[in-house]
Amino acid sequence: MSTTVIEVQDLHVKIGAAHILQGIDFKVDQGATVAILGPNGSGKSTLIRSLVNATPYSSGHIRLFGKELSNTRKVAWKNIGYAPQRVTATSGVPATALETVQSGLVFGTSLRLPKNSKERAQHVLSMVGLAHRAHESVQTFSGGQQQRILIARSLVKNPQLLVLDEPFAGIDKESRESIISLLHQLKANGVTLVLVLHELYGLEDLIDYSVLLEHGKVVSQGTSLSFIGQEEHGHPEHDHQHPHEPYEPYEPYEPYEPYEPYEPYEPSFQTSELGGHLS
Ligand SMILES: Nc1ncnc2c1ncn2[C@@H]1O[C@H](COP(=O)(O)OP(=O)(O)OP(=O)(O)O)[C@@H](O)[C@H]1O
Ligand SMILES: [Mg+2]
Repeated sequence: MSTTVIEVQDLHVKIGAAHILQGIDFKVDQGATVAILGPNGSGKSTLIRSLVNATPYSSGHIRLFGKELSNTRKVAWKNIGYAPQRVTATSGVPATALETVQSGLVFGTSLRLPKNSKERAQHVLSMVGLAHRAHESVQTFSGGQQQRILIARSLVKNPQLLVLDEPFAGIDKESRESIISLLHQLKANGVTLVLVLHELYGLEDLIDYSVLLEHGKVVSQGTSLSFIGQEEHGHPEHDHQHPHEPYEPYEPYEPYEPYEPYEPYEPSFQTSELGGHLS
């Protein structure tokens, strides 16, 4: 019998007056690769941010490795890696690639890194093909390379569950191929993958299960990708917006951004209150 890694039941998220997620139900089995699909603003990021405790939910249940998310300290955060949706090119502190990846190992209130953190960071940088640039500032990296660094950071704890929000948004072909081959490798090693995707990017072979969101609700889910609406989403003239088409710098319009400053490398849930085990 397969083990359930994620269980979401009747999940609702309200932010202010907005009812953003409305009664979401799905499960993710251990070792499965699940795609969360849907148009802009359908609630994909909100859903996975709720899963990793970055956005509070209003009602319903989320269980991770069998533990209720509401009982945050019981959740095995060390087994969970998360890379948020990349919003803009980095600004602010010019951390190196190595420092950025190492920061994924900071636990709890202590800012002290484990002894082998450099080696671990180097190892995951090599998994994304960037070990040779470990000491360069992330600001000098292309969008695709920065995405690979975010993924390396989410992998540095060697997680059993990896949650990636739009890992292919606005990236170059080389980075895309590097990430796709990494995902195949992780899946072969039994890692459970939850991927928010705008397109299928030729990942049909990897994906075991898909959940399609629209207006904050699951409109289809299942093992077949046939419901992804070839006439609509796959049609060359469909009017779905793609702010993060490959090769374009990604500058999404996010009306709530001013109220929620985005910190690409220090997600808001990395607090002592949450146990600080997730980054
Ligand atoms: N903190 C917030 N405050 C207010 N509204 C929010 C907040 N976060 C998300 N929303 C709204 O919730 C809806 C879903 O947003 P979300 O970012 O989850 O969509 P998405 O499917 O990830 O979109 P995209 O494909 O553009 O990344 C949008 O209408 C968005 O404006
Ligand atoms: Mg999103």
